[in-house]
Amino acid sequence: MDGMPNPLRRLTLEQLRRRTSMKWRTYPEDVLPLWVAEMDVPLAEPVAQAIRDAVALGDTGYPAGTAYAEALADFASKRWDWDGLAVERTAIVPDVMLGIVEMLKLVSGPGDPVVVNSPVYPPFYQFVGNMGRQVVEAELGADGRIDFEVLEDVFGRVRKGTARPAYLLCSPHNPTGAVHSAAELADVAALARTYGVRVVADEIHAPLMAAGATFVPYLSVPGAGTGLSLMSASKAWNLAGLKAAVAVAGPDAADDLARLPEEVGHGPSHVGVIAHTAALRDGGAWLDALLTGLDDNRRLLAQLLAEALPAVRYEPAQATYLAWLDCRALDLRGDPADVFLERGRVALNSGVPFGTGGAGFVRLNLATSPELITEAVRRMAAALD
Ligand SMILES: Cc1ncc(COP(=O)(O)O)c(C=O)c1O
Repeated sequence: MDGMPNPLRRLTLEQLRRRTSMKWRTYPEDVLPLWVAEMDVPLAEPVAQAIRDAVALGDTGYPAGTAYAEALADFASKRWDWDGLAVERTAIVPDVMLGIVEMLKLVSGPGDPVVVNSPVYPPFYQFVGNMGRQVVEAELGADGRIDFEVLEDVFGRVRKGTARPAYLLCSPHNPTGAVHSAAELADVAALARTYGVRVVADEIHAPLMAAGATFVPYLSVPGAGTGLSLMSASKAWNLAGLKAAVAVAGPDAADDLARLPEEVGHGPSHVGVIAHTAALRDGGAWLDALLTGLDDNRRLLAQLLAEALPAVRYEPAQATYLAWLDCRALDLRGDPADVFLERGRVALNSGVPFGTGGAGFVRLNLATSPELITEAVRRMAAALD
């Protein structure tokens, strides 16, 4: 034991309710919010210190340099045993979603198809649709993992004509928490090459592995050289309000990334870059304590649901702090998220915006205290009484 306390047990409900971010301000006070991907944790001390130092110095100008990418390369080497993250093939971007938009602009044109594995993080539909690309779904299998027959069929369809199709891979997958294996990712790369599809991988949840799971960076597998990846410290250290992320190109995508307009790199917050860099460089012990707490929370949720809501199917995920709950057997009239909110006063994400395969599911955010998870399940059960 290194003595680092579980960050998920540090804040009281009263402290959390003083927050002004989306998680805590979207619903009335009597609603317990376990929805949007914010964590109920204090900042990791090395991150807080880096921000304090920047403020003390007035170091609040524009971002410069490659410190974030260097810290990420080091983290990738230590945590994932991957030495292939070349700093010269990286760029800072304002956040992961805007990074995805910029990468898709580099490899596809207006109206081109972008394949996603539904059910998937809803902004994939919004951002890709708003940039004038056409979202095409390749639904996951019933096990929440990539269905390669479906994916190949969709790749075959989207490469027709003059289209420059792309595949927006979510790795690990939000909401199912599936961690794609090296073999699966190599299959993705092979299929993408066969059908002329460019792969953009969203790897924002990569540091958030459950015990026993190992993250494999997409760009580390054979054949993935034309791929582009987006990484960020924002999910694992709760830094969404401190905007920054890194785009990484495989060796055969370096020329594409070199076409990224310079002004995109003006978008990240300099203080954000400082915070993310400190997290990756010095936030390892804090992350480990968080991951242990999340393992405990997954077990707790499984136990609570088995006792109070046995008809809800829950498979503890290999990654992320999200729980994807299959509520279809409850046979509710309408969306389960609406029932839990209106009758139980607990806010979860509805599965519907996650696309095909999402109806009848809810997504619960486990990055909170065991007490609040217990209270959430109590409220969910009460909603059905
Ligand atoms: C898969 C995925 N991508 C991107 C984001 C958002 O990242 P950012 O705030 O850096 O755009 C999230 C947030 O939860 C996410 O789950």
